[in-house]
Amino acid sequence: MQDDQKKKLKLKVSAIKEGTVIDHIPAKNLFNVISILGLDTINNQITFGTNLESEKLGAKAIIKVSDKFFEDDEINKIALIAPHAKLNIIRDYEVVEKRVVEIPDSITGIVKCFNPKCITNNEQVTTCFKVVSTDPISLKCRYCEKITTASQIRMR
Ligand code: CTP
Ligand code: ZN
Repeated sequence: MQDDQKKKLKLKVSAIKEGTVIDHIPAKNLFNVISILGLDTINNQITFGTNLESEKLGAKAIIKVSDKFFEDDEINKIALIAPHAKLNIIRDYEVVEKRVVEIPDSITGIVKCFNPKCITNNEQVTTCFKVVSTDPISLKCRYCEKITTASQIRMR
């Protein structure tokens, strides 16, 4: 198949003029990504596709946010649930930059502490974890010092 034919097949969600395309999101985490990035509360045009075929992920999702360019620390918040996400920065319809997400050293306010007795599960305290390993991920709570592992991670 020719390259432009392949491109057309892939373009299930229309191209955008300016903004950010976040590709290779695991389909099951699409709505968590939307909420972590606050995309449910901004007025930018947003299109997304989900349950698209992906060799690597099985089912992937893609989000296109017009006129929005993320800071590294903003986008790295999704690394926990979309570690293979690829960002494409679009200017005048062209991909001008590609970025990957990186797992930050600490995570504030996104994940629940696994320890039911932790103060963050019983009072209005924002969670905060130190990332103690990245593959698989494990998080050490700043308050109770208990470890939350990859399979135990739940969003707040
Ligand atoms: N894209 C878009 N609007 C544009 C240009 C690109 O929405 N004006 C999207 C494409 O649909 C694709 C992503 O941005 O999902 C990356 O574009 P491109 O680098 O052209 O695609 P690929 O070569 O397939 O990149 P990769 O293999 O890294 O996904
Ligand atoms: Zn805790």
